Formats: sequence, C-alpha cells, structure tokens
Amino acid sequence: MGLKSKDLLGLKQLTADEIMEILETAKMMKMVLKGDNKKTSHLQGKSVVTLFYENSTRTRLSFELASKYMGSASANITTSGSSVAKGESLLDTARTIDSMGTDIIIMRHNQSGAPHFLAPRINASIVNAGDGMNEHPTQALLDMFTIYEKYGTLEGKKIAICGDCYHSRVVRSDAIGMTKLGAEVKIYGPKTMMPMGIEKLGCTVADSVADAVKDADAVMGLRVQLERQTKSLFPSVAEYSKYYAITPEMLALAKEGAILMHPGPCNHGVELPTAVYDCDQSVINEQVTNGVAVRMAVLYLLIARRYNL
Ligand code: CP
Repeated sequence: MGLKSKDLLGLKQLTADEIMEILETAKMMKMVLKGDNKKTSHLQGKSVVTLFYENSTRTRLSFELASKYMGSASANITTSGSSVAKGESLLDTARTIDSMGTDIIIMRHNQSGAPHFLAPRINASIVNAGDGMNEHPTQALLDMFTIYEKYGTLEGKKIAICGDCYHSRVVRSDAIGMTKLGAEVKIYGPKTMMPMGIEKLGCTVADSVADAVKDADAVMGLRVQLERQTKSLFPSVAEYSKYYAITPEMLALAKEGAILMHPGPCNHGVELPTAVYDCDQSVINEQVTNGVAVRMAVLYLLIARRYNL
C-alpha cells in the first residue's frame, strides 16, 4: 500500500491505514535491531540529512542510527557550525541540501509549519522531527508503537497524558494519531498550560491527574518546557509537582499493569518523581529503543515510495 505523500509532516496528514503500515514495518525493523547484525541494504545508495534548528538527543541520534543501519549516506547540519549561523535562510539551506541529491531531509525547527513550507518547494522528502508547538509525528509513532507492542491494538485503550500540554508538539501528535487508531486520550495539566480548543484533536480534557489516570492502560508524563516559557505559567516547582505530577499514588489509579511513558527528556521531580521514572511499569527506555525501529520504518517507506520499490 505504502505512504501517499512524499513527506511526513504530521499525523494529521496520515490515515489510520498508513499509521498501521508504519507500525507493522517497525515491528520488522525491531526484529532486525534485536539481531546480531543490524545492517540492512534498504537505503543503500540513498542519502539522508538531518537539519536541526533545535537541540535533540533522541530524535536526531535515532534517525542517524536508523539511516546508517540501513546503509544510506547520512550527514547532519545544525545551526551552529553551518551557514545558518551566517544568516542563510531556511529555504536556501534546504535548497542547498536538495541540490546535493539528498533523498530525505529530517528537520526540526522552532517555527510551527516550517516543514510544511519547505515540502512543496524541494524535491527531497521532508520528515518533520518537531516543528514549534505543532507536531512531532515520529515521537507519536514510537509512542503508539510502544502501546501497540504491549496490547496488540490501540482500539479502546485509555491513554492519559499529563503535563505541559501548551508547549507540547508531542501531545498534539499523540492525540491525533492515537484517536485515529481508536484510543481514548485524556489530557491534563495546569489551565495556563492547556491550549484552547485542544479537544478538536479528538482528546478530552480531564479535571485532575486522578481523573486522567483512572483506569488508564498507558500513562504519559510531559516535560515542562521551561525553555519555551516567556512568562512563568505556574507558581513554583513544588506546587507543580504537588498538583500535576504523576506520583506513585496517581499511577496506582491506572489499570493494573498499565505502562508509564515519557517522551523525554524528563525533569525529574517535576512532572515525574525519579521513583516513577524508574518503576517496573516504566517503558521510557523501551520508547527510546522503539524510536530507532519506527524511524527505520519511516525512512524505508519514504524511500520505497520515492523509488517505487
Ligand atoms: N522526545 C524528543 O524529541 O527528545 P529529543 O529532544 O532528545 O529529540
């Protein structure tokens, strides 16, 4: 069946069938990763460039490893150390990378919509690795894959997402993608950190952490994005962790065996105490592992579409 678009801009643009195809492909990629030889030839002779205007550990490294495991030529560009620092525009930068015959540009940008602006203007496939406060589709895909692996389906699963929803592109992509696959998504955070109209994405807004987490199959904490706050949105860390953190008591309200997730990086003691981050129910490290498999799947499917494989 394959992907319809040359680009992966957001989960808004994907159908449930396309999401399932990525998850099923990721299943196979994960088997490859578990083997003794992680190298495949899916991207042999192809080229992948990561173009990051914002910091990243997980997303950038997992895309880089994914592309290298699959045999592509790959390179990285960040703002410092490239001509972006000399004032070169986003479009000129992307056209420069495009002119070198690059197949896929994986980009992270602080402006919402930056990948959508580039996609129709260049030949390479654009993968959105996080744009402003809009979407982070591959994070949501790996979150969904983690739930899919655990339960075999997202249909009817209850997912609680608590934290700084206002700044979170992850919550937006998760809400869109998970509800497309039939999950019930409840979100909660301080009213000052709750985007107006977020229900339009298919989720419901809970009244408290307890209300969000009760009977959930998966509970996710979101990072308080202090770097994006222009003014203080909550009185103190102590108050935040008292009223909005996923404590062991709150996690105990979820279904027995529910999984605890976090996209990372985590502010320990703010959105989660370390005891919860490290608890037996935590699949945070598994999410990171799954990030490589999901990104291998995305790269493979985009290349398959480009070259009619
Ligand atoms: N979850 C996530 O996007 O992490 P990085 O910022 O480290 O890529």
